[in-house]
This record gives sequence, C-alpha cells and structure tokens, in this order.
Amino acid sequence: MKIPELLENAIEEKLNHVKLTELKQYASKLSEKYMYQERTGDTLLNTEIEALAYSIMRMPATYGAVYTALKHTLERINFNIQSVLDIGAGTGSATWAINELLDTKNIQCFERESVMLELGKSFMSQNPNLKDISWKYMDIVKDNLEAKADLVVTSYMLNEIKPEKRKDVINKLIKSSNHIILIIEPGTPEGFSNIKEVQKIAIETGLNIVAPCTFQGICPLPDEDWCHSIVRMERTKVHKVLKNADLPYEDEKFSYIAIAKEKCDNSGMRVLRHPMIEKGKITLKVCHNGKMEDMIVTKKDKELFKMMKKKKCGELILDCKTEM
Ligand SMILES: C[S@@+](CC[C@H](N)C(=O)[O-])C[C@H]1O[C@@H](n2cnc3c(N)ncnc32)[C@H](O)[C@@H]1O
Repeated sequence: MKIPELLENAIEEKLNHVKLTELKQYASKLSEKYMYQERTGDTLLNTEIEALAYSIMRMPATYGAVYTALKHTLERINFNIQSVLDIGAGTGSATWAINELLDTKNIQCFERESVMLELGKSFMSQNPNLKDISWKYMDIVKDNLEAKADLVVTSYMLNEIKPEKRKDVINKLIKSSNHIILIIEPGTPEGFSNIKEVQKIAIETGLNIVAPCTFQGICPLPDEDWCHSIVRMERTKVHKVLKNADLPYEDEKFSYIAIAKEKCDNSGMRVLRHPMIEKGKITLKVCHNGKMEDMIVTKKDKELFKMMKKKKCGELILDCKTEM
C-alpha cells in the first residue's frame, strides 16, 4: 500500500523550506522519544520541524494501519457512515485513510498541538476532497467533547494519555459516537493492553465488538501474547533518507478494536499470524469463538488450499463450515 499521491506531494513540497540535515537530526531524536519516553500525558513534539519529521516518518504507517482497520470494520457493518470525528488527529493521516474508504466530507479533526494541526490542515488544503475539513484545537483530557458523529476514530493517541486518565478518555470517545468507535494503537504489548482496556469497558457497558474479535467477550490471549495486524507500506524517497533505510517498504504492526452501539454479527475466524506455508500444508493460527486454534489445510482440499494461501495476518475467514 502507498499513501495517496496528493499527500506525498504535499509532504514533499514542505521539504523545499527546510534543511535535510537538520530534519534528519530532529527525526532521529523524535524516533527515540517515541520509543523510550515515558508517557506522562505531556507533549512529545511542539515545533514545526518536529511535526514535519513526524509526518514523513509516521504518516505512511499510521495511514496504512487506519486504512486496514477501517476496511476490516466496514466488512462487518451494513449502515452508512455519514459523519466522522478524528480525535488526536496529528497531521491527519486517519482522515486521509477515511477519505479513501468512506463517501463523506463531514469529518472533524481535533488536535492538541497547534503545529500538528496547522501542518495537517495545510496538507489537506492540497486535496479538493479534504480542503474544507474542519480542524479544531482540543485537549481530550481537559476539554469536553461536544461534537457527535456516526464514527469516532482515534489512532495512536491513547498511548499518549496518562494511564489514570485513559478510562475517562475512552468514555468520552464512546459518548461522542452515534454508532461506531474505532481505536488503533501500536502493535506492541503496551498498545494491545490499551486495546484490551477498551474491550473491557465495551463489554461492561453493553457495547458490541465489531472487529477484529470474532466473539463478544474478553480476549483470552495470555499476558505475554498480543493480537496485532500488519500492513506493508511502500516507503517514500524521503522516508528512506530520514530513516537511513534500504528496503523499499516498511511493515507496520498495529492493534485495534472497533466497537458499536448496535448489535453486530462478528462470527467467523480471524487470522492471528502470517500463515505458515509448508509443502502441501498450510497452518493458520486463528481466533475462533474466543479460542486460539490452529487451522490446518492440506492440498487434498484444492479450493480451500488456494483460498488460504492468499490469507494474510489480520484477515477474516467467514463461513467456517466450508473452510475448516
Ligand atoms: C502519535 S500521534 C498520532 C497522530 C495521528 N492520529 C496519526 O495516527 O498519525 C498522537 C497525536 O495525539 C495528540 N494528542 C495527545 N494527547 C492528546 C490530548 N490530550 N488531546 C488531543 N490530542 C492529543 C498528539 O498531539 C499527537 O498529534
């Protein structure tokens, strides 16, 4: 997958106004902060050059994660989403992904850091579909969220909230949604534990899980394991330079949960790992009805074998009876 060309061009245009060597220094400091700094709820970046470094290094991956999580969510629901809130929108990657999958211009972005907000707005001004999207300053911890929408999305934000404030924030997100709440986090044990916190609140408050889980309940994965999906993103030229990378792509691991106010059918099986393909045999680790199972498919079942060979980590297997 690739970020939309209009976004790539908008990011590249900004490079005309900075020194690449300086940008690289900020990028490497920012990487360290994101990897090692304790999350106290304080700001992680607040200068224009840091926001630009963030957008180059992280927007492709977060775009890909939101795109994939939303696609999996939409496979499970059958009503039209007409309005969206993007909370902790950063420089807008979730909204760019939403724009690819939903036919609505009624999207509002909320963000606490003015440098992120201004840069995100400026990228969107280059896309006729997104140029009128409304951006508002908001601190989701301190401020009331008055707006409401059919879909409320927050990507890679929950882990920046102080742990003791997280429950309040999750409840604010739930309150501001008419139908669906989609929360995406890094595909790490910490990110997944935030997702499990959302899952617990959803179950306790009688909400319904849409994706990725294939049952309504608390995740049975042991503490040392974590559920995540993977998306492969093509690297832009400048991404390779900032990250000193040779590979033309990066694999982003992410964890997510979509919950709904309406009942929904989330039966089936979810592929939890890259399928293991051996000669004449495929083993898929799947989540099925709240249990982890190994599904083994042999070449004897030609059609099924062909179908399962194409399955990727995070994808859904429907109609278990015919596919088992
Ligand atoms: C890692 S970035 C993710 C940005 C974007 N959602 C994405 O997926 O690329 C986290 C964003 O959440 C914002 N954020 C953190 N705490 C916030 C809060 N209390 N209220 C609003 N935004 C917040 C940060 O300023 C930052 O822009």
